[in-house]
Amino acid sequence: MGKKRIAAARTLTRRRFLKVGGAGLAGAALLGSGTLAACGGESGGGGSGELVFFTNPDTTGTMARLVERFNERGGEVRVVLREGNADTGQRFDQLRTQFQSGASEIDVILGDVIWTAQLAANGWISDLSDRFSESMPSDFLPGSVEAITYDGKAYGMPWFTDTGLLYYRTDLLEERGFSEPPESWDELKEMAERVTQDADVDFGFVFQGANYEGGVCNGLEFIWGHGGDALDPDDPTRVVVDSPEAVAGLAAERGMISDGIAPQSVATYTEDESAGSFLNGSAVFLRNWPYVYSLVGEEGESALETGQVGISELPSGEGGPGYGTVGDQPLYINASSEHQEAAWEFIRFLAESEQQKFQAIEGSFLPTLSTLYEDEEIRDSVPVVPLAQDALQNTRPRPVSPYYSDMSLEMAEQFNECLNGQVSPEEAAGNLQNAMESIIEQGENA
Ligand code: GLC
Repeated sequence: MGKKRIAAARTLTRRRFLKVGGAGLAGAALLGSGTLAACGGESGGGGSGELVFFTNPDTTGTMARLVERFNERGGEVRVVLREGNADTGQRFDQLRTQFQSGASEIDVILGDVIWTAQLAANGWISDLSDRFSESMPSDFLPGSVEAITYDGKAYGMPWFTDTGLLYYRTDLLEERGFSEPPESWDELKEMAERVTQDADVDFGFVFQGANYEGGVCNGLEFIWGHGGDALDPDDPTRVVVDSPEAVAGLAAERGMISDGIAPQSVATYTEDESAGSFLNGSAVFLRNWPYVYSLVGEEGESALETGQVGISELPSGEGGPGYGTVGDQPLYINASSEHQEAAWEFIRFLAESEQQKFQAIEGSFLPTLSTLYEDEEIRDSVPVVPLAQDALQNTRPRPVSPYYSDMSLEMAEQFNECLNGQVSPEEAAGNLQNAMESIIEQGENA
């Protein structure tokens, strides 16, 4: 396994292979067909004594361990872990199909910040406002509380947070006299050009440009970093993407490819391929989420040692910190689950300090409990936590809308076509303006 392509690391690492064993592999194969398969050889689910926990692939094995810990407490219900598709859009579709057909075999959902509005607006997830004690919201990072809030109510439990970061090769930059990471995208280009001239490295910069949700995050980061936005933050029914600022952002993203800083193949890259390319030493810079830091220095997954890798906030157009996309992963309860109490007990357990600390130390997940950012053990053993602290001050949410999934498909497509040179940045922004306006109009009139 260790000899496999590094790009596959997030999907099935050696560590994970050893943990899940053959039964998990059978589960993984089933997932490929879009079935909500139980992992670890479990079958069925949602039965009277079972609480089904639907998650993204448990690549670090930490979720399975936490489920085990919870089950060892011997409560009335046993939690069963079900891993969904790695792609957040496809995972959402898996869920939506279930909800629309009225099936309720999933009880607890590990979500994505972009799902909250849509799941809540459709009445598919439980309003937990009355369950939260008054002090609870202030225990969590403000952005993470926002991520579970829709229409003034709390629809989930913050669990871990995420944001876009810039990874860079400290060794290659320092050898050429660059002691700090770039602050503007132009500076990144200059540094990348300088390093690729004489170092044994193929690419200046790799990121996620494929036609999917990660591509949306990357495109929006370029737009935000140039002063643009997709929707008006003060009036989310107003589309503002056809602006000179947004066009400049998309032009800068496309320019990474057309100026030879990034390979054309980034237009097909998701998190895995881009991380793999950086970790095997092929790129000077990488845009990715914090989890990649836990792979640096891991045998069979990374040719780089931690001393060779730095992390900073993303650059911006003008210089100074750019915005990273908020990627909170909250826990929701299916509104029609028969196990509301047990589900609440389970998500409260997961969000406790002890469990969040375990997720941070074992999986490089960023906690949502504010106090854990001061925890010495976490700061020492998970350097991405203190390093990401600054970046967490500078984040932006994707459009908060009950129609987000439709908007996302349009953004993913236009951003990707722009990277492929099929549309110009101006055309992409214009097309998006029209498409997003009609999505809102149709939604409001439905
Ligand atoms: C990360 C983020 C999530 C985002 C996804 C895109 O998992 O946490 O919010 O939607 O990447 O690929």
